[in-house]
Amino acid sequence: MNAPLATPLTISTIEDADIPAVIALWQRCGSARPWNDPAADIARARKGDNSTVLLGRDAKGALVASVMAGHDGHRGWVYYVTVDPDHRFKNYGRAIMAAAEDWLRARGMEKMQLMVRADNAQVHAFYQSLGYFPQERVTFAKWLDGRDPTP
Ligand SMILES: CC(C)(COP(=O)(O)OP(=O)(O)OC[C@H]1O[C@@H](n2cnc3c(N)ncnc32)[C@H](O)[C@@H]1OP(=O)(O)O)[C@@H](O)C(=O)NCCC(=O)NCCS
Repeated sequence: MNAPLATPLTISTIEDADIPAVIALWQRCGSARPWNDPAADIARARKGDNSTVLLGRDAKGALVASVMAGHDGHRGWVYYVTVDPDHRFKNYGRAIMAAAEDWLRARGMEKMQLMVRADNAQVHAFYQSLGYFPQERVTFAKWLDGRDPTP
């Protein structure tokens, strides 16, 4: 087995003071969608002990990566996997995903899943580099407040 890759990031759990910078990072990365309220998403993820937002800082202390990780008791999931556009291809994405995997593994999860838009080939390549494999499934979704479907 290969030795684990030395992480290029310092990982921490989001704190109140981080929230504006995290939302700005998500907006710069195109991860903030009009139908999601990022502040509310962060607040929900911080509410229970089965979800979290992890942050990655580089050697200068700059916020460069984030991931929202959580589980439903069966599978681990990640959302908002983001690396600052000025800091891509430095293994920061790999490192923040490793932090999410560690977090979920420590909570007993055996498998991690994530959703990527079908036409986002570059991100498919990223996840495949990390050892994720595509699964033939169709995802169904429904807004529980009765809203019309979003894309
Ligand atoms: C996807 C994303 C997190 C990758 O971050 P990153 O820090 O640049 O990725 P890393 O440097 O850790 O790359 C890890 C591996 O993925 C590959 N990879 C990363 N981005 C890639 C791209 N755009 N196209 C092809 N391969 C890519 C790297 O080449 C590397 O492969 P290797 O180790 O086999 O050489 C980043 O591009 C991003 O934030 N994108 C916008 C937000 C987004 O779409 N997130 C995913 C939501 S589902």
